[in-house]
Amino acid sequence: MTTFRTQGVHLSRDPRSEPELRSGEPARNGASTHATSAVSANGMLDPTAYKYVVEPMAARHIPAVSAIERDSFPSIWPASAYRREIERNDMAYYVVAKRTPLAGPARRPRRFPVLGVDTTPGDEGLLSKLGRLVRGEKRAYATDEAEELETIVGYSGMWAMGYEAHVTTIAVDPPYRGEAIGELLLVALLEEARSRDAETSILECRVSNHVAQALYRKYTYRDGRVRKGYYSDDGEDAIEMSTVALDSRTFRETLAENRKRLLLKLQGTGDG
Ligand SMILES: CC(C)(COP(=O)(O)OP(=O)(O)OC[C@H]1O[C@@H](n2cnc3c(N)ncnc32)[C@H](O)[C@@H]1OP(=O)(O)O)[C@@H](O)C(=O)NCCC(=O)NCCS
Repeated sequence: MTTFRTQGVHLSRDPRSEPELRSGEPARNGASTHATSAVSANGMLDPTAYKYVVEPMAARHIPAVSAIERDSFPSIWPASAYRREIERNDMAYYVVAKRTPLAGPARRPRRFPVLGVDTTPGDEGLLSKLGRLVRGEKRAYATDEAEELETIVGYSGMWAMGYEAHVTTIAVDPPYRGEAIGELLLVALLEEARSRDAETSILECRVSNHVAQALYRKYTYRDGRVRKGYYSDDGEDAIEMSTVALDSRTFRETLAENRKRLLLKLQGTGDG
């Protein structure tokens, strides 16, 4: 199908029902655009009311995406692949999940050094420099850049190709797993798939990845054929999974129910 193996989810909404699970930024690749504001005003998640929100991935987010990817998958896409996807592939739709202050203090040490604060001149070896450049990382970041990168806790992506929305990747930073962020990221893709008139969503998943499969089953993905030796790093088989029709009653009801519970889970209590 493509240049790289998938590693692995926006619903055309009833505007009268739940808020859309995206926030903030202008969307890319033809996706609809929203402003960060109160749910009641424009139907979106309010970052002052939810612990985690999603927004379209931008090139400046890639260092955080690559860091999470390294902690989540045995092999990673180069930074250039993400850049190409979000800047030049109209079929692609990628999002990042960010934690808000309601999620409480950071659960991992800082990853992104701040210019003039965290770095010492001339202390970097050649290999470290090469690795950093391949990953699209800077040696140090302006304070606001670093602060934004530190808030990114997950990402997901898909290609909406005609009638099929193909989930290509989804990952949550390990210390933040089990907090409904994976679900938030999947729903963001499914909402976009529906708004792009996709009829179904498909993906591949490692046969051993029962956690991800459980997440997908919750959104009506069902097992299809097994693709032998799909993953080139270790030869593991992939299971193909696909949803019921995205405009079917089953899907719409599943989504509406799940989304209701998801929003409750994502609501911050102020104590993290
Ligand atoms: C798969 C992944 C994205 C799930 O993200 P997450 O934020 O931890 O998951 P959530 O908290 O949103 O959970 C959503 C659903 O996933 C399933 N799930 C999550 N953690 C699980 C666990 N430890 N055991 C079984 N099922 C689990 C459940 O169905 C859960 O729904 P529930 O809360 O109603 O039970 C995350 O584990 C991850 O990044 N894994 C590494 C990368 C990866 O494998 N990506 C998928 C490639 S196909």
